[in-house]
Amino acid sequence: MKEAGSRTPEPFRDLPFRSPRKTHSAQAAMRILFIGDIVGRSGRRILREQLANLKDREAVDFTIANVENAAGGFGITPKIGRDILSRGVDVMTSGNHIWDKREVLDYIEEEPRLLRPGNYPPGTPGASSIVTATESGQKVAVLNLQGRVFMPLTDCPFRAADSELETLRRETPIIVVDFHAEATSEKMAFGRYLDGRATAVLGTHTHVATADGRVLPAGTAYVSDVGMTGAADSVIGMTLESSLPRFLTGRPNRFQVATGSPQLSSVVIDVEDSSGRALSIRRLDVLSSDQPG
Ligand SMILES: [Fe+2]
Ligand SMILES: [Fe+2]
Repeated sequence: MKEAGSRTPEPFRDLPFRSPRKTHSAQAAMRILFIGDIVGRSGRRILREQLANLKDREAVDFTIANVENAAGGFGITPKIGRDILSRGVDVMTSGNHIWDKREVLDYIEEEPRLLRPGNYPPGTPGASSIVTATESGQKVAVLNLQGRVFMPLTDCPFRAADSELETLRRETPIIVVDFHAEATSEKMAFGRYLDGRATAVLGTHTHVATADGRVLPAGTAYVSDVGMTGAADSVIGMTLESSLPRFLTGRPNRFQVATGSPQLSSVVIDVEDSSGRALSIRRLDVLSSDQPG
C-alpha cells in the first residue's frame, strides 16, 4: 500500500464522487442486485423459482448474494455453491458462518466467486474481493468485510477497507461492499467512512431488513441490512420451536432451519458507470407465490 503507515488515513480526501450528485435515472448505466443472506433450502428454493424472472423484469446487469447460511442454515458446500452460481448469481459473499462446513476450506480456494470477510488474519483461506465484469464487459469489484461489535474477533474492518479499496480502485470505480455486521451503529459509521470511495456499502448478517436505504452525501448507496432470503415463518431463518427455548431457559439449544414458504430480500442499486457513483438504492422484496397474504 502506498505510503503505508506514513499518515493517518484521510477517507474524505480526494473523493472521486464529490461533484454534485446527478439523480436522473437515464444516467443509470448499470443495475446491481444484492440478495440478503440465503438461509437453507427455502432460500435456495425462492432463488431457483424467482431469480431468472426478477433479473429479466428488473433488467439487472450484475447479481451478488450473501450465501453464508445456504447449507442447512450454516455455511456452504461446493454443490450448493455451484447451484447458486448456476441460477444467475455472479458473486457470492459470506460472513462469520462461512467456516461452518469443513469442505468450504478447499472450495473457497478454488472458486474465486466465493468471498469471505477480508479482515480475518493473514493466511486465512480464500479471498475477500474479486474484480469481474458484467456481460457487456463493465468491470465490477466486490469486497467482503466483517464488523467487530457482537461478532467473532477479527482485525479492524475500517483499516482493512482503506487498504483493499486503494487496490480495487486501480481496477474499477464500481465497488460493492458487503459489510457483515451486527450493530447498526458500526454499520452506519462504516458506511459513512466509505462514502465516496465505494459504490455501495450493504449490511448483512442480522437477517432483518432495515428501511434506511439511501445514497449518502458523497455518492455511496447504503443500507444497514439487506435482510434474509429464507423461510418467512421463522426466527431469522430458524424454527420458532428451536429458537424459543434459548430465551425461555437461558440454555443453549440446537437450531433447526425453518423450511416453510420463503421470502427473498434484496436491494437494487443503479450506478453511473463512468464514476462508480450510486444514483439510487431501493428495496426489492419478494414473497413466494404460496405465501399467505
Ligand atoms: Fe447470515
Ligand atoms: Fe452472519
